[in-house]
Amino acid sequence: MSERMIRLATVEDAGRMNEIYNTVIVDSHVSFDTEPWTTDQRRAWLLDRLSDGYPVLVAEQSEGVVGLAWSGPWRGKAAYRSSVETTVVLDPECVGVGIGTDLLSVLVDTLADEGFHRAYAIVALPNDASVAVHRKLGYTEIGVLDESGFKNGKFVSTMILEKRLG
Ligand SMILES: CC(C)(COP(=O)(O)OP(=O)(O)OC[C@H]1O[C@@H](n2cnc3c(N)ncnc32)[C@H](O)[C@@H]1OP(=O)(O)O)[C@@H](O)C(=O)NCCC(=O)NCCS
Repeated sequence: MSERMIRLATVEDAGRMNEIYNTVIVDSHVSFDTEPWTTDQRRAWLLDRLSDGYPVLVAEQSEGVVGLAWSGPWRGKAAYRSSVETTVVLDPECVGVGIGTDLLSVLVDTLADEGFHRAYAIVALPNDASVAVHRKLGYTEIGVLDESGFKNGKFVSTMILEKRLG
């Protein structure tokens, strides 16, 4: 296996990040987006996240960026600013070898260092790999929102998992 580095994303990563994330938009129920994003949209999104103080990470190996993990606002109202939503997504060629664990563990540590109090992940079910990686990093299951989404002709339930950072 090639050496792996987890680092903060930069604007130059936007194209590759977009390519990776678009695979879960197009090929699965995992993302509740229904249309792929353009690189320009992803770049603008990334700049917003970074300027608002939400860490966004990538995993890089010799072949380039193979995964991403990001944080972002947990609902819009001001009193929620101590909480964040977290997400982790890999190149489908690179699952199952610990990259998700590495990304999420650095993200959680970074968020704790930045003073965030709670992180929430929303996992569209079924997704055994995602539930497993979140549990491994100390997220606990809060509940399931039954059939809260509709994608690819089916209703999809979502699980909320919580990580206590403080
Ligand atoms: C979910 C995802 C990020 C997990 O990352 P990963 O690198 O594949 O997971 P890891 O190799 O770090 O494995 C973490 C743990 O999950 C377990 N796991 C991995 N895949 C699994 C699967 N399909 N079923 C059950 N457990 C699984 C591993 O055994 C490991 O536990 P262990 O250390 O106790 O053995 C990755 O599979 C992915 O990107 N999937 C597609 C996008 C996605 O679903 N993202 C989550 C959005 S909420």
